[in-house]
Amino acid sequence: MKFDIIRTILQKTNTNYSFENNTLAYAPANIALCKYWGKRNEQLNLPYTSSLSISLGNKGTTTSIKILSSSDSDIIFLNDQQKENDSVFATRLISFLNLFRPSTTTFFEIKTYSTIPIAAGLASSASGYAALVLALNKLFKWELSFKELSILARLGSGSACRSLWHGFVKWHAGYSDDGMDSYAEPLKMTWPDLCIGLLILSTSEKNPGSTIAMKKSLASDFFSSWLEKSKKDLSELPLSIEQHDFSNFGRIVESNALAMHSVTHTTWPPIYYSLPETIANMHLIWAMRKSGIELYFTQDAGPNLKLMFLKKDVETIKKYFKDIEIIFPFSFE
Ligand code: PMV
Repeated sequence: MKFDIIRTILQKTNTNYSFENNTLAYAPANIALCKYWGKRNEQLNLPYTSSLSISLGNKGTTTSIKILSSSDSDIIFLNDQQKENDSVFATRLISFLNLFRPSTTTFFEIKTYSTIPIAAGLASSASGYAALVLALNKLFKWELSFKELSILARLGSGSACRSLWHGFVKWHAGYSDDGMDSYAEPLKMTWPDLCIGLLILSTSEKNPGSTIAMKKSLASDFFSSWLEKSKKDLSELPLSIEQHDFSNFGRIVESNALAMHSVTHTTWPPIYYSLPETIANMHLIWAMRKSGIELYFTQDAGPNLKLMFLKKDVETIKKYFKDIEIIFPFSFE
């Protein structure tokens, strides 16, 4: 099925292979404000629900790719360290690359640099597969549209389809079985005062990974309620962004994350990504809000929190959260 989709997308591209040397490509990480949680097709990463994210500016992945002239395997570097080809990271990458090899004896060298902690629930695979697809587009001189690249990136990691742009991005869940209508596009809205704070409480690998956790979550009695809630949140969130209505924005984003986690908590056996530090920081955030400092959080498949606040509160936030990494999604170098 994946190969059929690749064939459909690549049929009109240049197949007269002459390879481009400069394939360097960058894609930002993204944080879902309304989450993708639950796959209607696991092989194609097709979601039950649409989702909406914000990209993290200069936190992301830079990747280059070249064809190796004499090698019998791919060579993969992550942050200048060669990865074993049987590592989890390389195995996943290699099976994605298998979709695009001109022949079974063509191998690639991939150099990838990440400015975000790998697999700490900070969507590093999203920027990774988005950057890889952009680099492949350069290597093979495909000249594909961003919509088509978004579909290809989705095959690597669902949320990667949202990582091709900066700012707010919406992923349309789509209806078709082949997923040709399941892609992301940027929203024409900005919010220069909006800040994201990464509160990294653990950098260990998320456990279980999102694919397994999403599958298990389907067994939660609340899964259908999650789908309803997600639809409602997604219908309300864009207006709060357009109006820069931070209170409504924060309410929707935080409650959407809590609803997503409620289905992991209520499946059996339960999946509980939060650590005691996660919960302690949630209580701190709620206490701060009560005292008049407006900040909200979201949480993905891991114990870390991503805080949302406005520029006017940056200094206060730094006082409360000493190690926070602050991102300005609409103004970065
Ligand atoms: O794309 P995946 O398989 O890494 O799943 C991402 C899942 C969440 O980060 C929890 C939500 C989202 O929409 O990004």
